[in-house]
Amino acid sequence: MKNIVVLVSGGGTNLQALIDAQQRGEIENGRITCVISSKEGAYALERARRHGIPARVIARKGCPDRGEYSQRILDALREEKADLIVLSGFMVILDERVAKAYPNQIMNIHPALIPAFCGPGFYGLHVHEAVLQSGVKLTGATVHFANEVCDGGPIILQGAIPVENGDTPETLQRRVMEQLEWKLLPKAVSLFCQGKIKVEDGVARVYE
Ligand code: GAR
Repeated sequence: MKNIVVLVSGGGTNLQALIDAQQRGEIENGRITCVISSKEGAYALERARRHGIPARVIARKGCPDRGEYSQRILDALREEKADLIVLSGFMVILDERVAKAYPNQIMNIHPALIPAFCGPGFYGLHVHEAVLQSGVKLTGATVHFANEVCDGGPIILQGAIPVENGDTPETLQRRVMEQLEWKLLPKAVSLFCQGKIKVEDGVARVYE
């Protein structure tokens, strides 16, 4: 059974999707053993508590720099004996030591079709604002492994939906979450725990 540690910063709807999938028995060979929040008071912490999942806060605020923060996260991941780390709306960029310590074991959900609308500054609603400003007709969500490049690691699963006339960043975010993120992330986590994702030459392949 793989230990899944979920890193969050905010509302935690993707965490909720993982918890719901776990309760339905859809995360095969893995269980969420810990939730770590970068922010005190994040609603994601409440979701973890409600489901009896151990939760801890490692606050970015008040931590001197990215290196020190990354070290604190690394220490916690080792304590928790993490096999898979899920960045689930985690809004802090960690330094490359974390990615190097857990190669192809850190999964991120990004609310766009990587390699578009990604990288530093593209997070949360900003992504959907940029999508609407660009006029693209399709957008989506991507689950990928994290490496030392922000949003740059091997892509595991993607899904696409149309951008509609009259969309606002909020309506687009909601559809991307409901129709894509909340399905793709639990699926990718379950595939990982079953050993069904292989990475070769920087490319992830899924064997279902
Ligand atoms: C989600 O849309 C997730 O894809 C995005 O933030 C939201 C978090 O929502 N992540 C990023 O933008 C990372 N670059 P949640 O806290 O309700 O899961």
